[in-house]
Amino acid sequence: MVLSRSLLAVMRVAMAVQVIVGIGFWTGHWYGLVNVHMAIGVLYVLAFWVIAGAAIAQKRATGLALFAILWGIVIAAFGMMQQRILPGDLHWIIRVLHLAIGIAAMPLAERLAAGQMRELAHAA
Ligand code: HEM
Repeated sequence: MVLSRSLLAVMRVAMAVQVIVGIGFWTGHWYGLVNVHMAIGVLYVLAFWVIAGAAIAQKRATGLALFAILWGIVIAAFGMMQQRILPGDLHWIIRVLHLAIGIAAMPLAERLAAGQMRELAHAA
């Protein structure tokens, strides 16, 4: 599906930006960009959801797609709350978790979109 392929590209670019900006936060810089980071994070989750929704619409990999929708909620909810979770010395655990949860969406999206593109190739 052309849409999924484009959204996958959006997710790849968004992830790269998120990690670079995140490393800035980590090292105590660019705090003025937290809102931008959150907006890009929301975009990342929306793209993920549309890829998952397309799989569900095609009745393909439905289990994985439902899990992806759930995972998107986890990414957004954790991101919105993370500044308030475990503040202090142990906050690095939350930071590593936030990064891992965000990055983990990428291979799921790749798998869902790859399946959709295979389906399209067979149909052609
Ligand atoms: C809706 C989605 C997201 C929201 C609301 C969100 C929110 C945030 C916030 C508020 C911070 C600053 C934390 C602090 O001040 O300590 C942060 C940091 C960070 N974010 Fe995100 N984020 C989202 C998605 C992502 C994604 C998808 C990635 C990577 C794939 C990512 C990577 C990072 C990294 C590396 C940091 C710096 C380390 C840290 O503080 O955790 N974020 N994020």
